[in-house]
Amino acid sequence: MPPLPGKIISPVVGGFIQDDTQERKAADYKPAIGLLVNNWGITVKILINDGMSAEGIQMLRQAGHDVFDTKIPQEELPSRIGEFDAIVVRSATKVRSDVIDAGTGLKAIVRGGVGVDNIDVAYAESKGIKVMNTPAASSASVAELALAHMLALSRFLVQANLTMRDGKWEKKQYKGRELAGKTLGILGLGRIGNELAKMALALGMKVIAYDPYVTSTDLDVELLPMDEVLPRADYLSLHMPYDKAAGHAVGPVEIEKMKDGAFLINCARGGVVSEKSLLAALNSGKLAGAGIDVFMEEPNPYPELIHHPRVSVTPHIGASTSEAQERIGNEVATLLIEHFK
Ligand SMILES: NC(=O)c1ccc[n+]([C@@H]2O[C@H](COP(=O)([O-])OP(=O)(O)OC[C@H]3O[C@@H](n4cnc5c(N)ncnc54)[C@H](O)[C@@H]3O)[C@@H](O)[C@H]2O)c1
Repeated sequence: MPPLPGKIISPVVGGFIQDDTQERKAADYKPAIGLLVNNWGITVKILINDGMSAEGIQMLRQAGHDVFDTKIPQEELPSRIGEFDAIVVRSATKVRSDVIDAGTGLKAIVRGGVGVDNIDVAYAESKGIKVMNTPAASSASVAELALAHMLALSRFLVQANLTMRDGKWEKKQYKGRELAGKTLGILGLGRIGNELAKMALALGMKVIAYDPYVTSTDLDVELLPMDEVLPRADYLSLHMPYDKAAGHAVGPVEIEKMKDGAFLINCARGGVVSEKSLLAALNSGKLAGAGIDVFMEEPNPYPELIHHPRVSVTPHIGASTSEAQERIGNEVATLLIEHFK
């Protein structure tokens, strides 16, 4: 086992006590109550407020960091954050100016995952606090969920499950369609968009995409203006960021341009598509169905939308796989260990 980073120069109670000439080994490590210091001799106290993989937490502790992983409720956070040098969140905890102002010792904020819309990034950075995230760790998981919604919609999985549990056998009503041979339109050909494109190509779909910042791709994906993607896509999957100032990227005008009977999948952010316009398009029959993982109001999504019979919904679980969580935990730990070296 290679030596672990960090030295202990102060005695700790009930845990690992060594002088700074000894190497620490993982097998020797026991969680300690007391003063742990990193290579620079600074005590680093880290709050993990929305959970993290056991392995990631272990990595931080082995590096000599003092980890507190019991959730502090949002309303108590301003009064407690002053104790910590770093906070790790996912999407639940909001790190707004009240928390940042109260975090007088804060040096780093880490978002385990991609979207940092729950953090006032510019404000934190204006105060010299480093904001980091783990953008690539969950891309494959989110892409697989988008694909799962496409399959669920195409084969009536939601309705078939619900009606069978009601004792019905509605075999004739669930004549589905294959993905193979259909056209998938991707808006936002970034990390997740690329993962989805690879999966869709493997299933025999044609893939077209619009991304204002992507001019070439190694994949067999046709890059087109948005106005050309919309009318051609049998399935339109959204994988761009939500720009609050710009508003919905897909509103009534864009939906109107979509192919009649197409499916729309949103595993990006709630605001990317107008939920009202989407509901209207489902009710009018313009769209055949929608797969939605993210909502304008979380955790209280638009009731009429989630109860719509041609909608497949999930509660923002795009990144919720064991594999993604492990990758996120390892990346968060590595970022913090490097930052406080
Ligand atoms: N459902 C979940 O749990 C979950 C998990 C992770 C990420 N996400 C979301 O997925 C989305 C994509 O994440 P990513 O990691 O692929 O990001 P990314 O930055 O790698 O890719 C986003 C792409 O969108 C493009 N883009 C920007 N504006 C656009 C526009 N108006 N139209 C089309 N394309 C545009 C960018 O050029 C970029 O290539 C983000 O909104 C992110 O918050 C959701």
